[in-house]
Order: sequence, then structure tokens, then C-alpha cells
Amino acid sequence: MISKAVIPAAGLGIRFLPATKAQPKEMLPVIDTPVIQYVVQECVDSGIEDILIISGKGKRSIEDHFDRNLELETKIQEKEDEVLYTQLRHIEDMANIHFIRQKELNGLGDAVFHARCHCGNEPFVVLLGDTIIDSVIPVTQQLIDTYEQYKQTIIAVEIVPRDKVTRYGITGGKQISDKLMQVDELIEKPEINKAPSNLAIAGRYILTPEIFDALEKTPRGKGNEIQLTDAMKLLLKHDNIMALTIEGKRYDIGNKMDFLKTTVEFALKRKEFAKPFKAFLRDIIDKPEKEQK
Ligand code: UTP
Repeated sequence: MISKAVIPAAGLGIRFLPATKAQPKEMLPVIDTPVIQYVVQECVDSGIEDILIISGKGKRSIEDHFDRNLELETKIQEKEDEVLYTQLRHIEDMANIHFIRQKELNGLGDAVFHARCHCGNEPFVVLLGDTIIDSVIPVTQQLIDTYEQYKQTIIAVEIVPRDKVTRYGITGGKQISDKLMQVDELIEKPEINKAPSNLAIAGRYILTPEIFDALEKTPRGKGNEIQLTDAMKLLLKHDNIMALTIEGKRYDIGNKMDFLKTTVEFALKRKEFAKPFKAFLRDIIDKPEKEQK
């Protein structure tokens, strides 16, 4: 059974500067909710309540967000706003959240390595703290269901357009069903004609404890960092890895364009904003450009 999740959230967020100079990118709001709260909710919706967040310098507000704020609670109680009060208490009570600091930013692989003591000998889920996946069945649940059947490392992948493979980590191998691939190759940002598929690693994984030994042996790779993909490549030499094509849509908030798209799409899905926001978008799109200035 899988009962633990690890959320790496220590990265610098260079692609989102200047917004991330003094605040974590994982705390950027999509409408009114920080990205990392969507990620924690995905764990909870998949039955996982033991969550380790890999934190670091400048990430204090993540801890504060999941902590109690008695002053705020009292003020909201005085205003008799039951809905808001319940929302606040939900954040504090949603899971057992633990934190460990990654003191030097040595990459995603190193961040995951910090979970060794916490996870011990158990398999666990990894969810990137800057990535939301919108789906009917939470992607973590989809991965857990597959793990329960095959008991091996499972990587969540999504289909990307052929001409975009150069931006992602791509999996290659034998397709054993519509959605499952037995992986024999992992390539980071391949050239279009060298990509073994158009299945891109989507920021969610189920890892077995063997990953820690692999990470220990993984030399620094791209960006002089310890890459999780490199450790999984080492693992592939003697372990099986599967790729599950997920049902859902991935939003990488660390990238400004994706952040904008996420905000618009999520606003259009929210009951209270959908109609007026759609009207507003129509209005500005239909207006001739010179009138918009
Ligand atoms: P990214 O590579 O997208 O994050 O890692 P980054 O390093 O912050 O990105 P840029 O290029 O500077 O904008 C994906 C997730 O892994 C975490 C990040 O916080 C993010 O949630 N991460 C990355 C760590 O926890 N530690 C690291 O050393 C690197």
C-alpha cells in the first residue's frame, strides 16, 4: 500500500522571476489558491495524508500556509463567515504535512534523496510542487492503481505534439496496452528525430526505495545538478519501470505562459467567474486592437 507522498518545492523558480525573487513559485495563486495546495489536495483525494514537502531557503510561507492562523480565524469567526472559516480550517487539517530543508539546490534528484529517512523501505509518490494536473480521477490515484497491479516504478506521462518533444523528458519502450509502456529508454529533451515516442514525463511518479541507492550513485548531470531522470536510467539497468499515459491535463506553473493559460482555464471553470469572465474575454478579443490601447 502507498501511504506517503513527497513534494519537492525547494527550487529557485528562475523562470518566473521577478515574482519568485522573494516568494516561492509553489505559492503563486491560481485564482485564489496557491499551486501547492492543489498538489496537496491531489494527494488527499488519492487517500494519502502523510506528505513530506522538500522546502528550502525563502520557502517559509509554504509552512505558514498549512499552519493554523488563530488571529485570522478569530477575525473571520467575528464576521460570522462560515464558508471562509471552513475553507481556512480545511487547509490546516487536510493532511499530516512534514517539512525537510534542502540546504543546497542540487537538483530534483537531490530533493527526492532528502526523503530517504521519511520513506524508509516503502514505495512513495512524488508530485512536483509547481505542477497541477486537472483530471476526473486524481493522477496520483491513477498511478497507485497501476502500482498495485504491477509493483514497480511508474512514471506518469502525457502525450505531447511531436514538434514539442525537445522540451521534455521522453520515455521509450514497448507499449503493453493502450496506456502502459514497459520503459527501456529515458531521454531528456531529445532532438525531434531521435525521440523514441511523444510521451513526456508529467511531474508525477511512484518510486520504490531502490531509487535512493540509484540517486546515491548518480553523478551530477545537466545544469551540474543531480537529475531524477538520470537516477531512473541507472535503475533501468536492473529494475522494471513503467510509463502510464495519464488521463488529465498538466499545467506547469513554473512557466509564465502555462501560468497564464491555467489562470484563464481555471477561471472559466469556476461557477462564480465563468459567465462574466467569458464575456470579458470575448469583449477584449473582439475589440479592434487599436481600441484596446
Ligand atoms: P524545476 O526545475 O521546475 O524548478 O523543478 P526550478 O529549479 O525552481 O525551476 P527554474 O528553472 O529555476 O525556474 C520542479 C520542482 O522540483 C523542485 C522545484 O521547487 C519544483 O517544484 N526542486 C527543483 C527542488 O525541490 N529542488 C531542486 O534542487 C530543484
